[in-house]
Amino acid sequence: MSMSLSIPKPLDIAAIRQEFPILHREVKGRPLIYLDNAATSQKPKQVIEALVNYYSKQNANIHRGIHSLAEEATAAFELTRDAVQSFIGAGFREEIIFTKGTTESINLVAYTWGRKNIQSGDEIIISTMEHHSNIVPWQILCEEKNAVLKIIPISDEGELLLEEYEKLLGPRTRLVSLVHVSNALGTVNPVRQITEMAHRIGALVLVDGAQSAVHLDIRVQDLDCDFFAFSAHKLYGPTGVGVLYGRKELLEAMPPFQGGGEMIKEVRFTKTTFNELPYKFEAGTPNIGDVIAFRSAIEFIETTGKEKIRRYEQELLHYAHQELEKVPGLAIVGRAREKVSVVSFVIDGAHPQDIGILLDNRGIALRTGHHCAQPLMDRLGITGTSRASFAVYNTLHEIDELVKGLQRVVKMLA
Ligand SMILES: Cc1ncc(COP(=O)(O)O)c(C=O)c1O
Repeated sequence: MSMSLSIPKPLDIAAIRQEFPILHREVKGRPLIYLDNAATSQKPKQVIEALVNYYSKQNANIHRGIHSLAEEATAAFELTRDAVQSFIGAGFREEIIFTKGTTESINLVAYTWGRKNIQSGDEIIISTMEHHSNIVPWQILCEEKNAVLKIIPISDEGELLLEEYEKLLGPRTRLVSLVHVSNALGTVNPVRQITEMAHRIGALVLVDGAQSAVHLDIRVQDLDCDFFAFSAHKLYGPTGVGVLYGRKELLEAMPPFQGGGEMIKEVRFTKTTFNELPYKFEAGTPNIGDVIAFRSAIEFIETTGKEKIRRYEQELLHYAHQELEKVPGLAIVGRAREKVSVVSFVIDGAHPQDIGILLDNRGIALRTGHHCAQPLMDRLGITGTSRASFAVYNTLHEIDELVKGLQRVVKMLA
């Protein structure tokens, strides 16, 4: 009997780069090297074409029309919901709520579930490494309800201190709202374990998946989280679209977020009844074109292969760590054992903003500053970092160019 071994083909990065028109432009007379993917990723042709196709051929308001365009646009919009359901492994399509981004998804939970369920003296747990969008909504809620916000500390390497987390859990804990992957450090948090510990004492868990959805295989039912929030624009999709996944029974029990068209069943001056899921949380005309184009981004990831992307990005991460450490005076910030392809660093005597400007002169785009994580910067005793974050279209050569650029920066500044 003959056995055929199927060896997975590596990714053809040159061919993938061809799919991203923006990668062929120049900045300051040099080929663009885009290393700011944690802020937003670039878009492949199929996403751009889906947007053009929608506005050229299908544009209509959805759900309410009976004419052909409205029906086509509605069908395309709802197909994205199915694609998202399968992309994150949700049990039901009505558990997928479209928002305008992670920020709005988290605020939705704070304003609806939070206002209904949080009472004076209740406790909400977040961590030191949260993005501002997973801090401020809870601060506002806690202030309004006289509730208490507790913070999981981290190690110097940028990992959560789980034994400290355990001590924070108590009879008044109602919610643990935690970043899956830190945008500033790249740390991957052990969400499954954190969820298990929270559920043991009856608290719910919201996962901020803004940075994880593009790098990790997300199965919300395996993570066993109650809510999961992410943004399309960080996974090769358009801006202005986000997702809130919530367990059906929780979403059903939550009051609506915004009032208006689409979220109602019947409106009378005497009494208004609300629509069923998911529409109860989608008041007004949604971002139809971008939601439709988002499906093409998911298709891009799925046809490229998430596991192949993950492996390639890990190669970029390890190479970047190895090469950046050769730059004199450079220290990597964030040395968790499990990381995605995000590398933050500081250089002795060089301000991150100056580093950013000098690299931009060489066509290299990276992010500098506090990365919307000021409490994390305070904990680390710095005001900011420079951050290179890699996507599937980045190359080892681009990392070499970054290192060369930094070596020049050191000569000029440090
Ligand atoms: C970890 C994390 N959470 C939340 C957000 C907010 O995402 P958005 O601005 O798309 O709402 C970001 C964006 O950078 C992020 O990195």
